[in-house]
Amino acid sequence: MSINIAIDGPAGAGKSTIAKKVAADLNFIYVDTGAMYRAMAYYFLQKRISPDDEKTISAECQNAEVTIAYKDGEQQVILNGENVTGYIRKEEVGNMASATSVYPQVRQKLVELQKQLARKNNVIMDGRDIGTCVLPDAQVKIYLTASVDTRAKRRYDELTSKGVSCDMEEIKKDIEERDYRDMHRENSPLKQAEDAVLVDSSDLTIVQVVEKIKDICKEKCDL
Ligand code: DC
Repeated sequence: MSINIAIDGPAGAGKSTIAKKVAADLNFIYVDTGAMYRAMAYYFLQKRISPDDEKTISAECQNAEVTIAYKDGEQQVILNGENVTGYIRKEEVGNMASATSVYPQVRQKLVELQKQLARKNNVIMDGRDIGTCVLPDAQVKIYLTASVDTRAKRRYDELTSKGVSCDMEEIKKDIEERDYRDMHRENSPLKQAEDAVLVDSSDLTIVQVVEKIKDICKEKCDL
């Protein structure tokens, strides 16, 4: 039987950075489910569909085929045969993903793909509903969070280090809006699973969080 580790939490808590490192150390496959929602969102943006147009989005789901592959250990997202990994990190795509992931058709399709991957492989999967909905029987569940101020500062530093000019207050507002939407939607809202371990990364370094999560995994799975 495969071993499944679920990591959920709000945007900017460091889920993907941490999950990638834990996966490499434990020799697990890392599955970034947010990237799947972003690929679908990228498709809707290209088609110029409004995020409010549930009918068209639901119908268009069947035309957007999302799969994942691995290149040099990094997850690649393939949308209708095209590798879109390099196009899905923009704020615009993240906001569209948050807005369109509320629709059941979008979720059904991606959750099925996520379950299949976890059945066949030892995975660390991160997202919003992994412990509560996608992998309710995961051997390890982590809820990774950090304060809004910490997450905004991390995002600000990331963008400015890339030479992108940005405004701290705008970033904070974006994070708060995204949190609200992800936590209050009707379908699979972001929340801590009852059996998840809470890890707050606000005052911890990446290495400290990785070690903490590896310790939890070793304790729970006898790795
Ligand atoms: O983790 P991320 O920022 O790449 O995710 C983008 C959006 O996708 C997020 O705001 C909500 C949605 N999402 C989701 O609904 N369920 C998941 N398992 C992962 C992401």
